[in-house]
Amino acid sequence: MSISIKSAEEIKVMRVACRLAAEVLDMISPHVKAGVATEEIDRICHDFIVGEQHAVPAPLNYKGFPKSICTSINHVICHGIPGPKRLKHGDIVNIDITVIKDGFHGDTSKMFLVGDVKPYARQLVAVTQEAMYLGIREVRPGAALNQIGAAIERHIAKYGYSVVREFCGHGIGREFHEDPQVLHYFEPKLDVRLESGMVFTIEPMINQGKRHVQMLADGWTAVTKDHKLSAQWEHTVLVTPDGYEVLTLRQEEDFGRT
Ligand code: MF3
Ligand code: CO
Ligand code: CO
Repeated sequence: MSISIKSAEEIKVMRVACRLAAEVLDMISPHVKAGVATEEIDRICHDFIVGEQHAVPAPLNYKGFPKSICTSINHVICHGIPGPKRLKHGDIVNIDITVIKDGFHGDTSKMFLVGDVKPYARQLVAVTQEAMYLGIREVRPGAALNQIGAAIERHIAKYGYSVVREFCGHGIGREFHEDPQVLHYFEPKLDVRLESGMVFTIEPMINQGKRHVQMLADGWTAVTKDHKLSAQWEHTVLVTPDGYEVLTLRQEEDFGRT
């Protein structure tokens, strides 16, 4: 495993790419409501990224992915493909945005609540976000990479939820997915130490029921085997000399302004 250390110049560009990705989530927010088709959300994001941000939507044609964003509703864990399906009251949906600006990637996702959402679903969404933040808090030079997953797992276990193991966070930069793999559960062997200048995502997928995944025939959509709900939040994080900087932080978040 070779984890790249970003130079000051590269970090400047990463900050811009990540800010743009975060701004797509802000922009799309008023459109995420009952009745809208996920392919409409995709089109609005695509046009904004290309037309206004002068950036590139990284998912489009990535290993054959057919759309510009991922939309994962209810029991879909990740990599849902936008299509004619319309959001309905009570849905929870993850929108995952990755943009490329000046050769560097920024990757972030959040959960949206559509209309009135049941308390058990709202709790899954809130606890998953808390778990992501607790994982981010572990980030500092000298920390072991597996402390991130340990913190996430410790938090969600209190609620009887489970961590998806088939997908993980990842180093990011010139490539969409670089070393290291950032597991969202504790893996003793993952004892590599963090260093200032590393950039990676933390993007826990947390299931209401069992952790097991089933792949749909489209080759992309991952769903929970037990068809219970799944939630995910994602930030791109820089290791700084004294901790972390959340490069994809949005205005609405009060977390992590260190
Ligand atoms: N954005 C996803 C991630 O967080 C990756 C999506 S790959 C795609 O790593 F091809 F499905 F877009
Ligand atoms: Co990612
Ligand atoms: Co993503």
